[in-house]
Amino acid sequence: MVGRVYLVGAGPGAADMLTVRAQRVLQGADVVVFDRLVSPEILDQVPRGAMRIDVGKRPQHHAVPQEEINDMLVRLATAGRTVVRLKGGDPFTFGRGSEEARHLMRAGIATEVIAGVTSASACAAAVGIPLTHRGLASGVRYVAGHCRNDGNLDYDWRGLADPDTTLVVYMGMAQIGAIAVRLVEAGLSPETPAAAIVNGTTPRQRHCIATLATIANRARPYQGQGPVLFIIGRVVGLAPTLDLSLPSQPGARACHASAD
Ligand SMILES: C[S@@+](CC[C@H](N)C(=O)[O-])C[C@H]1O[C@@H](n2cnc3c(N)ncnc32)[C@H](O)[C@@H]1O
Repeated sequence: MVGRVYLVGAGPGAADMLTVRAQRVLQGADVVVFDRLVSPEILDQVPRGAMRIDVGKRPQHHAVPQEEINDMLVRLATAGRTVVRLKGGDPFTFGRGSEEARHLMRAGIATEVIAGVTSASACAAAVGIPLTHRGLASGVRYVAGHCRNDGNLDYDWRGLADPDTTLVVYMGMAQIGAIAVRLVEAGLSPETPAAAIVNGTTPRQRHCIATLATIANRARPYQGQGPVLFIIGRVVGLAPTLDLSLPSQPGARACHASAD
């Protein structure tokens, strides 16, 4: 009997931001193959009897090459295992979930993708930044802040420098200074509000609110502390006006207490 593979989004890190569907599938797993971004809080929810395989990727160093991960998933499923491939955030948002799904489907393995809460929406909510807001941002764009093989970021900078659109930069810690410069050169005001959030939604969360001109310096202490997400645009200016300190939102209050 061939098993199946669930490509599961673990969400941004907080234990209770795993979806109910993901939790249900996790409870039935024989094997859990997980990434570096999956937080200890989520790994605590892996059932005792399930085998754990850490294929954690670190920047500039893929602990287990993607091709090996692909083959491992096929091998485990072919051996009849129910496999949960657990990924940080959402598997189809900068998660290489589509590459794994394609490989599995080509190998004839039954595969299901379970969406997770992506860090953009989770981090934004955790620090009181709406990604869109009538009159301030009519859209939002998610971009990767680094390139394969550390090449230059080859974006349509004029297109990205749109004051009516919120820009969310994933994996941008190393390049945020260069990104800010390119956006300003393309016409965005250096005073545009910008936020950095590290370890969003976890007890280790910290964040800062700055401007395009200052965000690289302000976020520098986050280097090496955990995953960092950048949000750029006028909506960031709303953060101080959204009162997240209501008693019904203890997590949100803790987030504000940790702002730099
Ligand atoms: C390879 S991408 C994976 C994104 C993930 N699939 C998602 O949907 O959030 C890794 C990047 O996601 C962002 N990220 C993921 N979890 C985060 C968190 N808890 N706090 C801040 N940023 C996070 C960071 O920008 C990090 O460099």
